[in-house]
Amino acid sequence: MSKQLNSKRVVSIYWEHSKRYKKKLWIIYPSMVLAQVVEDFIQPLIISYILTSLATRNLDQLKNNNLVLILLALALTEAFGLFMWNRLIIPLFWRTQEKIMRDLSMTSFDHLQLMSARFFGDRFAGSLVSQVNKFVNSFERLSDALTWNVFKLIVSLVATTIILFPKAPQISIAILVISAIYTPLVWRYRKKQLPTNQAWAAAETERTGQLADAISNIMAVKSFAGEKAEHKRMQSKVDAVFDRSMDTLRMNTRHESITGSVQRSINVSVIVLSVLLAINGNIDIGVIYLALTFGIAIMRRLWDLNMTFRTVTRVFGDAHDMAEILDTKPEIVDIDNPQELEIKDAHIDFKDVTFAHEKDAEPLFKKLSMHIDNGEKIGLVGHSGGGKTTITKLLMRFMDIQNGAISIDDQNIANVKQTDLRRHIAYVPQEPILFHRTLSENIAYGQPNATQEQIEHVAKLAHAHEFIKDLPLGYKTLVGERGVKLSGGQRQRIVIARAMIKDAHILVLDEATSALDSESEVLIQKALWTLMEGKTAIVIAHRLSTIQKMDRIIVLSEGKIIEEGSHTQLLAKKGAYANLWKHQSGGFIED
Ligand SMILES: Nc1ncnc2c1ncn2[C@@H]1O[C@H](COP(=O)(O)OP(=O)(O)O)[C@@H](O)[C@H]1O
Ligand SMILES: [Mg+2]
Repeated sequence: MSKQLNSKRVVSIYWEHSKRYKKKLWIIYPSMVLAQVVEDFIQPLIISYILTSLATRNLDQLKNNNLVLILLALALTEAFGLFMWNRLIIPLFWRTQEKIMRDLSMTSFDHLQLMSARFFGDRFAGSLVSQVNKFVNSFERLSDALTWNVFKLIVSLVATTIILFPKAPQISIAILVISAIYTPLVWRYRKKQLPTNQAWAAAETERTGQLADAISNIMAVKSFAGEKAEHKRMQSKVDAVFDRSMDTLRMNTRHESITGSVQRSINVSVIVLSVLLAINGNIDIGVIYLALTFGIAIMRRLWDLNMTFRTVTRVFGDAHDMAEILDTKPEIVDIDNPQELEIKDAHIDFKDVTFAHEKDAEPLFKKLSMHIDNGEKIGLVGHSGGGKTTITKLLMRFMDIQNGAISIDDQNIANVKQTDLRRHIAYVPQEPILFHRTLSENIAYGQPNATQEQIEHVAKLAHAHEFIKDLPLGYKTLVGERGVKLSGGQRQRIVIARAMIKDAHILVLDEATSALDSESEVLIQKALWTLMEGKTAIVIAHRLSTIQKMDRIIVLSEGKIIEEGSHTQLLAKKGAYANLWKHQSGGFIED
């Protein structure tokens, strides 16, 4: 997508969110016009009146018109201005802006939640976090710039023309012409800076990515004494940010020396023009005062445009990535009017499933077919990389298949709501990752309205209660980001407890007990058997003793089913499974 188009997208997303507060906007902006006109125009008009009276020594007129009243009016304009800005416009603007930012955060968050596993696999979590923040903060900077600078400039120009034109058309026209030439000039230069700004923002994203990657892998860094190498990587990223910033600075200086000299010469010309007109006696001193006050105010605002446009281009650079993500359609979507998943006895069918992780790559599964009966317990084994985890992820519909169908109780999983599908499957993933929340909350994630009693019940079944009760804060213990404060085995017991509390029709365990010592595994195994009662289950395990009692064992190799049958049948076959078993049986006794 071109950058140009993308800036438009950024604006349109911001506008879509701002529109929701139309009523507020209809109070804010007209109030601003009113306050600005009173403060910046009515007041100078009064002063100009006084000056003209003084200059023409028309003091009687001044006195007749009651000096006190005039001064009171001056004070009133001040009070009015103070009230309007401090009590009305700024608080309301602030509030509305915060509300829009709140909505933008939620839009980004909700959209990210829809994105697929692949999407997250391709990106750094840290970069995504910073992109959401930048996107939201950019709105603040953009709306500030447009409101406090551009909008006020427009009001100034219109009001100046209306007031000044009848009194001094020459000066009024001069101001308009200058603005009409100057503004596009500044904008043109700023647009030239857009690519440089985007390069700068991209460098910052990379820096954030490196920071997040190194920090989240900090234990790996330490254990491999990788600090120096990470330092070097980080150094190159921060250097890149610095270099891009300097590119921008150089360009900026070049452009601003041009626009600056134009602006300054204009300033001088307006003053000279006013003085000349005054000398020629065409104009009152009061009008000269107005011309200078208005003219200089506009010149200052025009100069501020430099800053404003700089903000605007940076904003587009910053908001670009997230806007693109918001425009990216989620890969895994529900069909229109998805049917409800009705589970009767939970048999599962893979029919001619073809799937490749990467487009155009050799598919991992080619026409893979597999039937799992009502309540059948399947053990899935095979060398790593064989596709066991992928099968479970396809069943969860974390990825879509290219061909064929996966169905549960004869309902294609592609035609049911994703949330509905996943609600019926208790899934224990290969890497047990926990929320940085309490143990109770982590377990109850499988059933949000679970009671503490239920939580402790499953914790006992999963043999997690034993270690939890010894923690100083017990079930209220926070587990650290991703659960780092627990051992691998402890984490696994928590996720098993979580799956147990969910009580779904289908159970999928991907190496769920791999980090447990064999003794704990035997204990948990019992609980898992109880859990599996009356359910359909797919259990993946490296340790074959874990699955030898399953109804059927499927041996997977390079995406193909090479053997299947019960433990005894497969041993009798003396094939791949028997081989695997031979390697492992040293430690495990068959019973
Ligand atoms: N997100 C992914 N992107 C690309 N390839 C992947 C991805 N996940 C797994 N693979 C590849 O798919 C194959 C099967 O992986 P997996 O299902 O995890 O095997 P298993 O669980 O049997 O060890 C492997 O070759 C692996 O490299
Ligand atoms: Mg795996």
